[in-house]
Amino acid sequence: MTAFELIRALAHDATIGIVVTDTVVEAPGPTIVYANQAFGQLVGCSVDDIIGQSPRFMQGKETRRETLDTFHRALDAGERFHGYLTNYRADGTKYRAEIDCRPLRAADGRIENFVAFEREVIRRVGRPAVSAAGRYEPAVASNDGLTNTLRNLSIFEHA
Ligand SMILES: Cc1cc2nc3c(=O)[nH]c(=O)nc-3n(C[C@H](O)[C@H](O)[C@H](O)COP(=O)(O)O)c2cc1C
Repeated sequence: MTAFELIRALAHDATIGIVVTDTVVEAPGPTIVYANQAFGQLVGCSVDDIIGQSPRFMQGKETRRETLDTFHRALDAGERFHGYLTNYRADGTKYRAEIDCRPLRAADGRIENFVAFEREVIRRVGRPAVSAAGRYEPAVASNDGLTNTLRNLSIFEHA
């Protein structure tokens, strides 16, 4: 079983958005090859409409170019990207996404896919903004097995 197949099996019922792409970093890539239902809900599209698109379809006026450049460099280097981006739903409404993206490697180290775990976060009220992590909390608190596992793996910064 490849890492992609394992993720697909686990992702099906997850409450966290999970999206898998091919390995083409330069535009028009990467191309989405899998998205779970929770990802469809996050971005307000049917999963069928998401497959085959680039994740750039969620970007808009307030998506910070600087953060995307950091994202691009991480993908190029085969490294993890963790950050916060302003993205847009199909209906044009914007939301703040916490994104953890990492390469999926075959046993020989070759990158086979990228996977991202994504969820909506909201700004914490009345908290000093010490870091990006301290500024946000999940829009919906989840307590399912996969979310707890992701938390234990430090994939997301908060409960
Ligand atoms: C698995 C995966 C998920 C991604 N999810 C998002 C996303 O939710 N929102 C976003 O703005 N960019 C996302 N991206 C990043 C864009 O696809 C693209 O790599 C980014 O804009 C940097 O490339 P560019 O400099 O060519 O624009 C994702 C990339 C990958 C590989």
